Amino acid sequence: MNILLTGGTGYIGSHTAVVLSQLGHRVVLLDNLSNSNAQVVDQLRRITGLDMPLVHGDVRDTPVVQHTLEKFDIQAVVHFAGLKAVGESVQKPVEYFSNNVQGTLSVLQAMQAHGVNTLVFSSSATVYGEPQFLPLTESHPTGATNPYGRSKLHVEEILADLARSDPKWKIACLRYFNPVGAHASGLIGENPNGIPNNLMPFIAQVAWGQRTELQVFGNDYATPDGTGVRDYIHVMDLAQGHAAAIDYLKQHPGCHPINLGTGQGYSVLEMVRAFERASGQAVPYRVTPRRPGDVAACYANPQKAHELLNWQAQLSLDDMCTSTWHFQQSLGRLESP
Ligand code: NAD
Ligand code: UFG
Repeated sequence: MNILLTGGTGYIGSHTAVVLSQLGHRVVLLDNLSNSNAQVVDQLRRITGLDMPLVHGDVRDTPVVQHTLEKFDIQAVVHFAGLKAVGESVQKPVEYFSNNVQGTLSVLQAMQAHGVNTLVFSSSATVYGEPQFLPLTESHPTGATNPYGRSKLHVEEILADLARSDPKWKIACLRYFNPVGAHASGLIGENPNGIPNNLMPFIAQVAWGQRTELQVFGNDYATPDGTGVRDYIHVMDLAQGHAAAIDYLKQHPGCHPINLGTGQGYSVLEMVRAFERASGQAVPYRVTPRRPGDVAACYANPQKAHELLNWQAQLSLDDMCTSTWHFQQSLGRLESP
């Protein structure tokens, strides 16, 4: 299939581009490069041996999206493009609704105009709000605690209405848990601008010596060691999940919310120890107060993905840490003077 990846030069998009193109799909990337770099295309060529066209454009520019769908005869869209920092979304709600909700509407308008009706949307476990029970199933009530989460929820609701309005639409809302890790080549990975918000890139920078210590946000949660528990999933497993969803949609119209997680939760301190083992480096840390808005534990019931998509995460916590470390080393060498 010819598949458009919006946000395709970003962290999850670039790994999905590798998997889809290695399965024989023709992949086209569209990105405004607000949080990624065009050099990713060179890295993708080194990994896959293939040239993937990159359209430098904004998803809110409907004519650009439409022209891309026409030019490359696109049959399915994976819509990654959007902003994703929870804290920033509280400061800049208009930007978040514009990029995430308006951006999706623009993609849908272009798809409608061009008769493309297969869509995989990057949703998030954040749509569950404060967990009322664990592990989280797709039937857990939804709710949002910040504008980022609300933008994902709004889009999911729009997509469900769209699928109800017209049986031609085939839509998967993939609710990612905590994506971490990198491609085994070390050529692509997560490279946040400035101080990382997320645990794994922060730990990697401490292990590399770029930061002195990790702040552990609270050790008084009702979890086995008191620190927050999350469902970390290797980004290559996540990428495989997108390929499985595209296959599933061929025969299954409608709008399908599906968790992509491992079902296994790890605490912050377990992550620190696993990273120390994988990297052979110390990761000094200091316990600080809880981060506002954090929940004690969040992990998936991944059974629906297994049943519908025949997909299950395969890679281990050690794979997640080793590949992150490998990418951090490549990055660190490139960035050091
Ligand atoms: P990322 O920032 O690395 O990738 C997003 C890409 O979209 C970037 O390359 C950015 O330049 C591009 N982009 C942003 N706004 C755009 C616009 N208006 N037009 C065109 N391109 C635009 O983030 P990621 O981690 O790869 O996340 C991809 C998707 O998955 C996002 O929608 C995010 O909300 C969702 N998600 C991510 C996580 C996570 O922890 N990484 C968890 C749950 C859901
Ligand atoms: N943490 C620390 N120190 C840090 C960073 C994080 O102790 O420097 C802790 C957090 O308190 C939490 C855990 O590590 O217990 C994971 O935190 P992350 O920021 O890595 O991830 P979150 O679960 O908070 O959020 C992530 C994405 C959201 C997404 C959510 C669910 O950032 O966008 O997963 O998919 F909504």
